Amino acid sequence: MLRKRQPIFAANWKMYKTIQETRAFFASFFGALSEYADRKTVIAPPFTALAAAREEIGAFKRQDVSIAAQNVFFEEQGAYTGEVSLPMLQELGVEFVILGHSERRHIFGETDMGVAFKVRAVCEAGLCPILCVGERLSEREAERTNMVIGIQLAAALAALPENALHGLIIAYEPVWAIGTGKVASAEQIAQVHAFIRSWFAVHFNSALAENIRILYGGSVKLNNAAQIMGIADVDGLLVGGASLDAGEFVKIVSCEI
Ligand code: 13P
Repeated sequence: MLRKRQPIFAANWKMYKTIQETRAFFASFFGALSEYADRKTVIAPPFTALAAAREEIGAFKRQDVSIAAQNVFFEEQGAYTGEVSLPMLQELGVEFVILGHSERRHIFGETDMGVAFKVRAVCEAGLCPILCVGERLSEREAERTNMVIGIQLAAALAALPENALHGLIIAYEPVWAIGTGKVASAEQIAQVHAFIRSWFAVHFNSALAENIRILYGGSVKLNNAAQIMGIADVDGLLVGGASLDAGEFVKIVSCEI
């Protein structure tokens, strides 16, 4: 299938892997992964392993693989104990930043407004935000999925001009599918991805809507990756648990698209 948008296979390692484990991952990952021109791989290790990941990618001379941070603070510097800024990430060669992940929203109390500040800062710095949206099970059961996602998008992208959104990537991650082994059905994924694309057509314009990449995340494994990639409007995957194993993630990235 000839795709309009280059697919992205993104690994969110969450709070897993030391520097040593990161180096070991890349040794086996690059030992097995062909260099693909038709897809991009993005790895988001913890902050402490970003430099090692960058070094490994450089040592293997892999243009098809980039690194992402799992979060960032929007101020450039200051008295913000425990936070990391965009200049700090840029110094490490980070190109993508995951924002608004449901674990950040629900465990760490991140708000829509906080996410909006971060999206703006990441776009202004010229990096690509991977903005996560998704409904909880109770919201799906109450048939409020589109509404919840519409609100998350509107809040995160409020006050951003269209030309600031260059490089924006959306990840649809139903909260009930994250780390549970429950994957959204093909119909559910197709419906929400189409809704997100139409949301951009309505709130921005159809050219932006056509270009924006929408990833699916939530219990993606080797046995469902190709099928999910075959669903309309799915432009890539955001993989948690299954991305920690180099062998399994190589196979996911290599799936038929
Ligand atoms: P799992 O793939 O472990 O369900 O995690 C998905 C996720 O949260 C990726 O950001």
